[in-house]
Amino acid sequence: MPFRLHANPPRMASTLPAKKVMNDPVRELYSERRYPDLSHPVTDISRLWVSARVAGLAQLAEPTNCRVLEFGCAAGQNLLPLAARYPKSDFTGLDFSDTAVRQARQLSYDAGLSNIRFETADLQHWRASHPCDFLIAHGVFSWVPDEVKTRVLDHCGQVLSESGVACISYNTLPGWSLRRDLVPLVKALANNPAAAGLGETVESVAASLADMAGANTAHAANVQAICRDMVKKGPTVLPFDDFAPICDAVYFAQFATWAAERGLRYLGEARLQDNLPDGVSPEAFDRLAPLAADPILLQQTLDLLSGRTHRNSLFCRADAPLEDNTTTAVVMHFAAGLGSIKLPPVESLAVSQFRELLEEVAPSCISVQELIRRTAERLGSSWDPARHGRELAGWIYQAARLGGIELRSEPLEIRRESLAAPQLSPLNLHFAAANRPVVDVRHFPCRFPDGHERLLAAMDGSQPADQLAERAREEFPQLDFPRWLAHLAERGIVT
Ligand SMILES: C[S@@+](CC[C@H](N)C(=O)[O-])C[C@H]1O[C@@H](n2cnc3c(N)ncnc32)[C@H](O)[C@@H]1O
Repeated sequence: MPFRLHANPPRMASTLPAKKVMNDPVRELYSERRYPDLSHPVTDISRLWVSARVAGLAQLAEPTNCRVLEFGCAAGQNLLPLAARYPKSDFTGLDFSDTAVRQARQLSYDAGLSNIRFETADLQHWRASHPCDFLIAHGVFSWVPDEVKTRVLDHCGQVLSESGVACISYNTLPGWSLRRDLVPLVKALANNPAAAGLGETVESVAASLADMAGANTAHAANVQAICRDMVKKGPTVLPFDDFAPICDAVYFAQFATWAAERGLRYLGEARLQDNLPDGVSPEAFDRLAPLAADPILLQQTLDLLSGRTHRNSLFCRADAPLEDNTTTAVVMHFAAGLGSIKLPPVESLAVSQFRELLEEVAPSCISVQELIRRTAERLGSSWDPARHGRELAGWIYQAARLGGIELRSEPLEIRRESLAAPQLSPLNLHFAAANRPVVDVRHFPCRFPDGHERLLAAMDGSQPADQLAERAREEFPQLDFPRWLAHLAERGIVT
């Protein structure tokens, strides 16, 4: 008997006729305030491709030659760097904010990108004209009215190519519930004479609550963590997120049901390691293995145990051809590099050689097949292709699921030799000139302290590093320029 969730009946029913929206607080928000320019590593198609392939979607188009569609693309900060990275792929961004779309178009024109276009369109009325292989809907679903939520999922069901994949972000229950309850309270306390001393803004109230909560009980620690996160998001992000006019959360089971009603099948989370959420140990995960027969109940149990507040889930068409038995050998199709989590040592000689290689090539990623070839070379006559090949594939697969290894669709070469005349990519030069964050090769946005963009904007390859260092000394005496330059090089921002 599949799991059914009865608590908290959904506000969005698939059979409901679309309600007429009398006033639109979401539209008002985006016309009054500028949404911050953010790229989201979790939507990087190089990683989405890996996660979808691991889930068995073998025929998904490769990022180097595919069609990508983004809903709610704002001013294009997420899509533009992907379009610059994959010039043979086609990118379309869609947003109802005219201003955002104009800015995105201007930037794509300035950066000379001819493989990307931006459309002004309201998701509620938009009609898909051609299929896409990757669909990104980040920061949209939980923050729009119910009728638009319905349309977002309808579109996903209609626009995905046969082996296409949609990456949709949304807030999840029960984890989000405490955060949801804190929002009106924090608002009520802000600038309230009766709560003198707690603070005038929602951020300062959140900071006071974090101080007062302490961490003596699990609840207090949770309140503290939420309030600290609010402080971290700050006034640029909070009005669009926790404090947005609409900020809903949903049980995963409900979300998956809505998706299934539109012919979509859940594949897994966008980041491989999010399939094992924080707070759930690999041992607990193993104990839940029998639940694999009811994946929805398994996922809902994981959300309950971990208190997860947010998901970036992947969906494909229910009729998409899926491999029956994806084995760990799937890793042979990928490129690998060191992940962000340090893994415990292992006894196997092949694995320890492989790990040494990863450390040597870091921060680059190289093809798994090449890494295995080099491991075999190091092991010499003790290399046993069948045994060691299997062992390494199994280890890479598990390590990637724990975050100890980064897997990507293709290699990432970051050169470390000294930078005589540092150079940003044309797109990043325009980002810096427009005072937007530059985006690193792993799709992370990088904001530097005020004014440093001016230095970045001068890194067009025409000025020697010592001349830039001189300028840095005059304009930013506190800045350790050589270290900063090395940091930019490590992140592949300058070459
Ligand atoms: C919270 S922002 C997220 C932007 C970006 N995807 C990100 O995650 O950083 C939501 C975006 O969706 C757009 N949006 C909201 N409702 C929309 C609708 N009905 N049709 C099209 N775009 C919409 C807003 O203009 C805004 O750019």
